[in-house]
Amino acid sequence: MKVLIVGSGGREHAIAWAVSKSSKVDKIYCAPGNAGISEFAECVSIGAMEFDALAEFAVQEKIDLTIIGMDDPLVGGIVDVFEERNLRVFGPRKNAAILEGSKAFSKELMKKYGIPTAGYTTVHSAAEAREALRGTKYPVVLKADGLALGKGVLICSTPEEAEEGVREIMEAKKFGAAGDSMVIEEFMTGREVSVLSFCDGKAILPMASAQDHKRAGDGDTGPNTGGMGTFSPSPFYTDEVDAFCRENIYQKTVDAMRDEGRPFVGIIFFGLMITEDGPKVLEYNCRFGDPEAQVVIPRMKNDIIEVMEACVDGKLGEISLEFEDDACVCVVLASEGYPVSYRKGLPIEGLDSFKGRDDRFVFHAGTKFDQDGRIVTNGGRVLGISAKGKTLLEARENAYKATELVWFENKYMRHDIGKAIDEA
Ligand code: AMP
Ligand code: GLY
Repeated sequence: MKVLIVGSGGREHAIAWAVSKSSKVDKIYCAPGNAGISEFAECVSIGAMEFDALAEFAVQEKIDLTIIGMDDPLVGGIVDVFEERNLRVFGPRKNAAILEGSKAFSKELMKKYGIPTAGYTTVHSAAEAREALRGTKYPVVLKADGLALGKGVLICSTPEEAEEGVREIMEAKKFGAAGDSMVIEEFMTGREVSVLSFCDGKAILPMASAQDHKRAGDGDTGPNTGGMGTFSPSPFYTDEVDAFCRENIYQKTVDAMRDEGRPFVGIIFFGLMITEDGPKVLEYNCRFGDPEAQVVIPRMKNDIIEVMEACVDGKLGEISLEFEDDACVCVVLASEGYPVSYRKGLPIEGLDSFKGRDDRFVFHAGTKFDQDGRIVTNGGRVLGISAKGKTLLEARENAYKATELVWFENKYMRHDIGKAIDEA
């Protein structure tokens, strides 16, 4: 069969790698893709938001399954455009992708269906926000309602910081229309865990757990980023936590979406906080995490296409997911200055040392071919170096060793990815 992947990051590279191993697939396309993805897929220069052009391409090339990797096209309704043309596509429709697209919606859903999450208020104007903040406890969390490139969440320690946040989100519209409404949320403490799961609208199969490191600097300092590194599994995601989440969070979310007339097909990414009062939902995403995919997918034993087709066909009940016992750690190599300002177009060396290996991987995020055919940096996050090991410790050692195999000017990484393992 022929598969089209929509996206251009490390997550889509990991998906392309897994799809390339499927016995069912003869040809992979990726739009728009990147230099690394072109090892497995023919990259097509159509942007991820060009829904009609993508659907037209899928019709022309007789694509059997399109996989949407990114949140923006999903929230924008790409799946509906494909389905209108009778194209098979893996991902939630617009009315289900709202689970990530609107934090106000997801909070309301959790409240209505008794899914554990932090207490909150939704506000629609700066005046309402100021009123709601009167007498609140600090720290307090402000969240722009809509998509904001992972940057629309502010943790405010003082009333002054909260006032600044209200101004940025609701008055200066730093995140555009995403800040027309805002969620004001109680601050939770605990361990964060990400659980990505396959859904077919009725059933849900959680994958192995992972943990992300969102801040740019060592020791969780500096600005929030898309993610600087991940590890899987999380030692804090115990069998007890898993059992609680299956009973009180995962299936309840899928059932709630179905009851609301918004059946969810695709990936639900549960951002969880394991608090003293038990696990609670921090956020939902409607797609694989990036760089969570880069540690979870390499551990998956199943044929990814079989699982995705089961989701699209409503037959997930027939599948059981299997993961390797080996752990996996991903360290992101970024351009110095990310996420604020950084240089692009710098040549990358050492990529060949990853070719054909399945114990270590270089997943490209921001790369491209320059005019001379060299692979150069083309973004803030440049590469994700993933490595496996029998234990998390070994995987972490292997990942950091592997980061030394590649070089580019301005190469930057965190040195404490997976440090939490030592505390487990
Ligand atoms: P989100 O995009 O909602 O996942 O928020 C980004 C990050 O902000 C999360 O990964 C958490 O680290 C943090 N965060 C969000 N909501 C809360 C909360 N209620 N309490 C504590 N931290 C939070
Ligand atoms: N790494 C977090 C995310 O993909 O949203």
